[in-house]
Amino acid sequence: MRVLVLNGPNLNMLGTRQPEVYGPHTLAQVEDRCVEHGHALGLEVTCRQSNDEAKLITWIQQASATFEAIVINPAAYSHTSIAIMDALRAVDLPTVEVHMSNIHRREPFRHHSYVSQAAWGVICGFGIQGYEMALDALARRDVQAHTTES
Ligand code: DQA
Repeated sequence: MRVLVLNGPNLNMLGTRQPEVYGPHTLAQVEDRCVEHGHALGLEVTCRQSNDEAKLITWIQQASATFEAIVINPAAYSHTSIAIMDALRAVDLPTVEVHMSNIHRREPFRHHSYVSQAAWGVICGFGIQGYEMALDALARRDVQAHTTES
């Protein structure tokens, strides 16, 4: 299975951005871990990051030609972007939304995510391990499809 891992705005600053919230790892380290963990699960992982909402939407629209699943940390766009939600619904690939922080323990404006309405599942609060958990879930999806209604 080929999986597209998308990261949204300001996540290129991981490592220096609020390390008390997001931890010490850089985006490059997170992406390397996704590729390695995916490889161990038999998944082919491609990672992309943009601060630009339009670019993220274009990558989502094009994803169904090349990928079977999406992992996305839409960052602040989670809380604002009906357009990203619509793009995910349009391509209809199994999508796992990841947030490193527990958005429900933070400011009220982070408690709602439009993207969650288009996601198969949501993982938050487990730091960068959340990306690996998302890949685990996708790798097991065939098994789960027989036991859940999703
Ligand atoms: C985030 C949480 C968002 O609220 C925030 O805007 C981010 C990162 C997370 O991974 O915890 O940029 O998505």
